[in-house]
Amino acid sequence: METGPDSLFVTLLLLLHSSHSESEKFEVLGPTDPIVAVAGDDIILPCYLKPNISAEDMTVDWLNLDFKDGRVYRYQNRKIIREDQIPSYIGRTSLFKEELWRGNTSLKLTRVQGTDEGRYKCFIKALSWYDDFTIQVLVKAVGSKPVVSIEGHREGGMGLLCESEGWHPEPELAWLDSKGVHLSAGPPETHRDFKGFYRVKQHVIVQETNTNRFTCRVQQSRINEKMETEVHLPSELFDTTPWRISFIVLSCLGAITVIGLSLAIYCICIKKEDITEKLDELRKERGK
Ligand SMILES: *[C@@H]1O[C@H](CO)[C@@H](O)[C@H](O)[C@H]1NC(C)=O
Ligand SMILES: *[C@@H]1O[C@H](CO)[C@@H](O)[C@H](O)[C@H]1NC(C)=O
Repeated sequence: METGPDSLFVTLLLLLHSSHSESEKFEVLGPTDPIVAVAGDDIILPCYLKPNISAEDMTVDWLNLDFKDGRVYRYQNRKIIREDQIPSYIGRTSLFKEELWRGNTSLKLTRVQGTDEGRYKCFIKALSWYDDFTIQVLVKAVGSKPVVSIEGHREGGMGLLCESEGWHPEPELAWLDSKGVHLSAGPPETHRDFKGFYRVKQHVIVQETNTNRFTCRVQQSRINEKMETEVHLPSELFDTTPWRISFIVLSCLGAITVIGLSLAIYCICIKKEDITEKLDELRKERGK
């Protein structure tokens, strides 16, 4: 009977302790399907606690797993922690403060850009428990209508250039004739801007056909989008007469230059011979 109150006290402590850690246990959940975001839009990356206990006093970390260093967002000690934030996310991320008390830790991301594509981890830590959930974000951006420029006569044909920008993911560019047959073109050139959008361009040399219609097609099959521009070249453009004339003029100029040079060299040689002859004569006179 003497140990009764003591053991009761210990039991109560244990009960209190275990019920405390029990209440801290939670799962972090979110969508299992990827989130498809259109470039320029604002999106919500869903993430919440189950059971729906308050996350107000927990640490909420949002990470982009493609970045080794830095965070997308951190909430800790009821404050936003801006240190170590990945530069491209500065000023574009927030939590729904009024939702935290019911375990909603979803992230709002504004003005989606190409570099936002990737896997995001929502990591939530309480005093004695933590869990996380990873969601995938795909970014979709349809680029500009291709711009075709005529570059002039090239290697017996007409040089054309096609350019299109603002795509995500990286698109494919193709040059086609009027029957939709692929034309062999120069190497495709791709550039990615600092926001992660792609710009593509490609040169082609076309020969005169009976339609003189050529198409530049830029397409991205993952997002099922394409953009096309058709050009019609007037057949006079293929007329190489001006080119022939300039060739003849250049050839004539070349010939004249060659003849001139030869003459100059010839004269110099003759003069040299003259001088040598005169010197010889002088020597002979002295020798006498
Ligand atoms: C928490 O979840 C329970 C059951 O799922 C629900 O009845 C309750 O309304 C939720 N509370 C909040 C604050 O969302
Ligand atoms: C969390 O809050 C956001 C913003 O109000 C809302 O769109 C979303 O549905 C909420 N998620 C859950 C699980 O309640």
